[in-house]
Amino acid sequence: MIRIDSVSKRYPDGTVAVDRLSLDIPDRAITVLVGPSGCGKTTTLRMINRMVEPSEGRILLDGEDIRDRPVNSLRRSMGYVIQNAGLFQHRTIIDNIATVPRLLGTSKRTAREQAAELMERVGLDTALARRYPYQLSGGQQQRVGVARALAADPPVLLMDEPFSAVDPVVRKGLQDELLRIQDELGKTIVFVTHDIDEAVKLGTMVAVLRTGGHLAQFAPPAELLSEPADPFVEDFLGADRGIRRLSFFASGELALETGPLVPIDADAERIATAASAPYVLVTDADGAPLGWAEPDRLVAGSIDKDQLLSCGRPFRPGTDSLRTALDGAVLSPTGWAVAVDGDGRAVGVVSQQTVGEAIRAAHDEHRTDAKAAG
Ligand SMILES: Nc1ncnc2c1ncn2[C@@H]1O[C@H](COP(=O)(O)OP(=O)(O)O)[C@@H](O)[C@H]1O
Ligand SMILES: [Mg+2]
Repeated sequence: MIRIDSVSKRYPDGTVAVDRLSLDIPDRAITVLVGPSGCGKTTTLRMINRMVEPSEGRILLDGEDIRDRPVNSLRRSMGYVIQNAGLFQHRTIIDNIATVPRLLGTSKRTAREQAAELMERVGLDTALARRYPYQLSGGQQQRVGVARALAADPPVLLMDEPFSAVDPVVRKGLQDELLRIQDELGKTIVFVTHDIDEAVKLGTMVAVLRTGGHLAQFAPPAELLSEPADPFVEDFLGADRGIRRLSFFASGELALETGPLVPIDADAERIATAASAPYVLVTDADGAPLGWAEPDRLVAGSIDKDQLLSCGRPFRPGTDSLRTALDGAVLSPTGWAVAVDGDGRAVGVVSQQTVGEAIRAAHDEHRTDAKAAG
């Protein structure tokens, strides 16, 4: 565990960048430091690998003051990733990634083999190995930065706004990739961002900092969204935190209705049994949803695909959250969301009202849990 123990940093010009910050950063989890620009995130991160020395307080790594560790061995145990990747422009991608293992004495051949494996791990085509950084997109360069930080297999990764300079679509891909890599590798990650959505998505624990390096709140993301500690945190979380909190509620318990599902080749009898539903969901031969129709407009043997209303965005019960289910229902022209399995086959439909009831039940359960815990 990394323990930040009442640490302050005053720069020589008098700026107090961090003010008596205490944080216990858990092992093998992603801890996010989030806050507005200039609130001391980078300073805090750099104190962990001693690129910046605290003015007061201490930082412990597994109980040992990091000042008692040789700085080289400390930094070797901590991969460091920054915005714009910070790659060596005159080295190929493969040699960028192999840099630290080479410095540590690994043979060129072994280091390159490991680097090629790392490229695959971070989702890079090994065909890019011999290129130079300027020949890669911003998103690809960030992946190289992550691979390079992982190359010496450090237990700790420090990441300073690593995805801030890429466009939203690429950014989402990088975030998903980081979560996947973390599932496999279980590093202790300290991740800095100014983007609260990124913090909530990636963090096991999230530390919200305010200007002057004060800790405003340190909590799991769901708790941050449900119980912001003060108006600053509430404001920072944004206006739609109620909706965003639904991302932490599972959709697996939603009661699905199967009555309104009608295959496109349904006979008159099958159509008749669905007639009591306000809308029916027509599915193709494999069971994939095609669209909605009013039951009395269906004629056996001649259901017209082009006449159907779009079924919007389906959700996967259990895998997707209540937020995705609600979104599906809100987007649907009928007000009903479509549930599909992993192969895209419709498994049922659910109304906005049912989703709404599930949301209320989840809130009640959360309140009961909170009472029992506290
Ligand atoms: N080397 C430095 N000398 C003086 N002030 C600095 C230095 N580095 C950062 N600061 C100041 O410390 C504060 C925190 O900076 P920083 O840790 O970079 O914040 P963040 O990463 O959250 O944007 C800011 O006011 C910044 O201007
Ligand atoms: Mg910064």
